[in-house]
Amino acid sequence: MSLLEHMDTGQASAGKTSAVPTENDRPLVELSHVEKHFGKLHVLKDINLKVNKGEVLVVVGPSGSGKSTMCRTINRLETIDSGTIRIDGQPLPQEGKELANLRAEVGMVFQQFNLFANKTILENVTLAPVKVRHMSKKDADDLGMDLLARVGVESQAAKMPSQLSGGQQQRVAIARALAMQPKIMLFDEPTSALDPEMVNEVLDVMMKLASEGMTMICVTHEMGFARKAADHVVFMADGRILEKGTPEQFFDHPQTDRAKDFLSKILTH
Ligand SMILES: Nc1ncnc2c1ncn2[C@@H]1O[C@H](COP(=O)(O)OP(=O)(O)O)[C@@H](O)[C@H]1O
Ligand SMILES: [Mg+2]
Repeated sequence: MSLLEHMDTGQASAGKTSAVPTENDRPLVELSHVEKHFGKLHVLKDINLKVNKGEVLVVVGPSGSGKSTMCRTINRLETIDSGTIRIDGQPLPQEGKELANLRAEVGMVFQQFNLFANKTILENVTLAPVKVRHMSKKDADDLGMDLLARVGVESQAAKMPSQLSGGQQQRVAIARALAMQPKIMLFDEPTSALDPEMVNEVLDVMMKLASEGMTMICVTHEMGFARKAADHVVFMADGRILEKGTPEQFFDHPQTDRAKDFLSKILTH
């Protein structure tokens, strides 16, 4: 069964071949001229980005280049100074219920899994559907078990997060984000806090999601994943997008010295 069975995925790639523009041609996520400062630090500089429905965008770049901040602005965990961010055509609201609704459309998975330590694995997944979506406990439990099965940790449902490995916890974090039936999933270095032997079990779940048509923005330096899953790669440095291209264009033919230097560092170990 598909990971996306419960989700309203629409027609993942409908519109791509159609000559007449439809709402499926509209980017699901669009950043235009986004600027952001932390005090004097200019962290996002004229960020322009479009991600269409069903596309996977991989974001790479050196530490401190603004990758996490960009992700956080997309579900409004950070405000922006100027520019616009649209999700499915709608500008991000400033606050209130609309913001909560819109944020629910954007699932986010962080480097640190951030599971609720005092809740069971199943409760971690069902909490938001019950509280935010007002789903019945029974329906939420069914959905939760289904999602846990799909990320391969259903046998852990009654345990507490600390009883699971990092790879298992991160898969639970993915299931928890999916439980809100997001239109898009953001992953911010989801495997970089994991022991090496656990990286693949998380990437496999992400690959499966991508192949099922989930729209994804992934900050990751996992080259194998990027080459297999990404439609586009963007390279950020010093708050700017310096390169955009297909994985082949970027990894095999980087244009800027910054990107060449960055790639030589991540490829040589
Ligand atoms: N809440 C914050 N307050 C002040 N500076 C921040 C904050 N978050 C990030 N920064 C700074 O913004 C820059 C970009 O950070 P970040 O988006 O985390 O980059 P990346 O994810 O690419 O490593 C860094 O210089 C970082 O120190
Ligand atoms: Mg980061």
